Amino acid sequence: MAESAADAPRATSNRSTTPRSDTFAHYISSQWADRVEELPAARAQATYAADRRARISALHPGARLIIPAGAAKQRSNDTDYPYRAHSAFAHLTGWGSDAVAGAVLVMEPTADGHDATLYFREAAGRDTDEFYANPEIGEFWTGPRPSLAHVAADLGLATRGIADLGAVLDTVDATTLVVREADRDLTDQIDGRRLLASSGADESIEIDADEALARDLSELRLTKDDFEIAEMRAAVAATKQGFDDVIADLPQIIAHPRGERLVEGTFNRRARADGNTVGYDTIAASGPHACILHWTRNDGPVVPGDLILLDAGIELDSYYTADITRTLPISGRFTGVQRQVYEAVLDAADAAFAIVRPGIRFRDIHAEAMRVIAERTAEWGLLPVTAEESLEPDHQYHRRYMVHGTSHHLGIDVHDCAQARRELYIDGVLEEGMVFTIEPGLYFQPDDLSVPAAYRGIGVRIEDNILVTADGAENLSVGIPRTADDVEAWLAR
Ligand code: GLY
Ligand code: MN
Ligand code: MN
Repeated sequence: MAESAADAPRATSNRSTTPRSDTFAHYISSQWADRVEELPAARAQATYAADRRARISALHPGARLIIPAGAAKQRSNDTDYPYRAHSAFAHLTGWGSDAVAGAVLVMEPTADGHDATLYFREAAGRDTDEFYANPEIGEFWTGPRPSLAHVAADLGLATRGIADLGAVLDTVDATTLVVREADRDLTDQIDGRRLLASSGADESIEIDADEALARDLSELRLTKDDFEIAEMRAAVAATKQGFDDVIADLPQIIAHPRGERLVEGTFNRRARADGNTVGYDTIAASGPHACILHWTRNDGPVVPGDLILLDAGIELDSYYTADITRTLPISGRFTGVQRQVYEAVLDAADAAFAIVRPGIRFRDIHAEAMRVIAERTAEWGLLPVTAEESLEPDHQYHRRYMVHGTSHHLGIDVHDCAQARRELYIDGVLEEGMVFTIEPGLYFQPDDLSVPAAYRGIGVRIEDNILVTADGAENLSVGIPRTADDVEAWLAR
């Protein structure tokens, strides 16, 4: 929790030149204008977050639920990664990119549900030296924090100062559950208190209960509400702009020895210019790098005649992110073999999309894409057996060229709902409101002797973001060109 950040100054303390005299402290604490705060109206997500809390409340009657946002994560020495609150916390509070590090949501059981209170380190006054002398959280260093009243109005939640969390921790017992991975320090404190409260009874029972909470919070996100669907649409629209920008910059990208870096820079510049960020490290994989599924080093050239695979997604303030891949011929036109591979992947994507509707199994989407991938690679003579034989569970020769899955849930995390049970995820049945990717690919490694030389070094992935509707599906990213002809026309513009 945030307490430790304030209490343990880092390496900067040995080079601090901030004056320490009483004279200075008195002077810098004086002559500040009064702060008059106008409270905001509740943000649009507040009522949706309240509904989500009601759903998790119903699953855990009588239990106290602790959902931490988590502390800032250290990158190196005295620098941190950009702060990111835990996804379950963001989902239940509606607090995303403006969340205060170390905040904790506590849902206290009542006779008919839970009362939720958000604890966080609120705005500090001028009565301590924090505002100028604390490089980690001081207002002069990292900006002002909001007041308790401001956040209460904004999120429609009761709020208390983080110092009051101690009283909650003092009464922790076996009925308290915590999202364990969100804040390790806080989890350790809770484990310690529970151990005392249970006088040494089996600790694993409580850990299992914590894991059930994490699972339920993950499963709560399997179907998206109207707010989330609108955010996904906005994230996809913003991502399209980033892809357009990359195409517009292609001449400079090609001219640069590390063109992949420029691709990443152009896409990420669009994110920042619009006030957003990226939902995961941009994959700008040109030429044979396209055969490396998560190529994020992005230090290669972008050479005409090759393909470039761009897998990138813009994340909004709410943390909802797109996850889109397009594979582009750098010269503007596909070669014959590039187009052949591209169209096979597109056919796999289209076949998979065609079956999506409520009631089918999630795993059927992958099976449908794999049917096409097996058929095409068999037609081209790449498999030692027929497509039917390759599709048998014990064979799967075609998977040499696509080792990853076809789909994952998408939302506040790029790989959303990761702790959901298998029977609700991979073996689960589709429901209206689910959002996931369809992303088949074919990757022929440059040194793969099982394919003719002409295929080697070609990597293609086409990734779209799909919403399950009442009677079918909508491809949210269909507006980003995806057929070979449309991609060529896009590049020619
Ligand atoms: N961008 C990572 C993925 O497509 O899953
Ligand atoms: Mn994906
Ligand atoms: Mn992706």
